[in-house]
Amino acid sequence: MNIILLGPPGAGKGTQAKRLIDRYGIPQISTGDMLRAALKEGTPLGLEAKKFMDQGTLVPDSVVIGLVKERIQKPDCAKGYMLDGFPRNVSQAESLDAMLGELKQRIDHVVSIEVPSSELLARLTGRRTCRACGAGFHIKFDPPKKDAVCDKCEGELYQRDDDNEATVSSRLQVYEGQTKPLIDYYEKQDKIRRVDGVGDMNEIFGLIVKVLG
Ligand code: AP5
Ligand code: MG
Repeated sequence: MNIILLGPPGAGKGTQAKRLIDRYGIPQISTGDMLRAALKEGTPLGLEAKKFMDQGTLVPDSVVIGLVKERIQKPDCAKGYMLDGFPRNVSQAESLDAMLGELKQRIDHVVSIEVPSSELLARLTGRRTCRACGAGFHIKFDPPKKDAVCDKCEGELYQRDDDNEATVSSRLQVYEGQTKPLIDYYEKQDKIRRVDGVGDMNEIFGLIVKVLG
């Protein structure tokens, strides 16, 4: 099963992806995580991407399309995969369709996680992530047992550089202008599965499993 997780910054794509990995045994492919990993390694691609990520704008299409094309051909994607944060505009979606055509693959479901923008700033500015294992937390909505320490591996929790108010505001604008039109794009392919992303994280997971059938 190949799925896309679509939704604004802070909708819960990463949060739900972690649960879906366990449930379906397919990997999460987050272009944001891949770009942050490249930056951490100090590769030219990572350093180039940083400029855009800090501004809350999109990294050039050619960069992310190349990353995804390589990633979905790895052996762990044989049973399927979850795309998180890709595609992010119509041009990336068209490239993805072309790429999948060549590989004789298809997207089965596009899960649209719907959260009103008024909720997103608090979710993003309170997010904390484990440096070691990548587990996600929130200082109010999903706090770790020990301050700044990961419950799962005792790693250090950090705040993402782009989770500040100014960058979040730009990310939300980019979402409205460039990413939201993908709902229409995939509606035309009859692939949109809408899920209310407000409420208990486990209940939202249940709703996603239900729409995936
Ligand atoms: P990326 O890393 O993809 O960030 P994003 O799309 O802005 O999404 P987030 O990761 O912020 O949100 P999420 O939905 O995963 O939320 P989460 O589950 O963590 O991209 C970053 C940057 O990389 C982009 O700005 C761009 O520059 C670049 N980039 C990436 N992909 C690209 C592409 N394809 N093309 C070009 N550029 C690209 O949840 C957030 C918080 O809320 C957490 O603290 C969580 O605990 C909490 N939370 C989750 N669910 C709930 C709930 N139900 N109730 C209360 N709190 C909740
Ligand atoms: Mg994420």
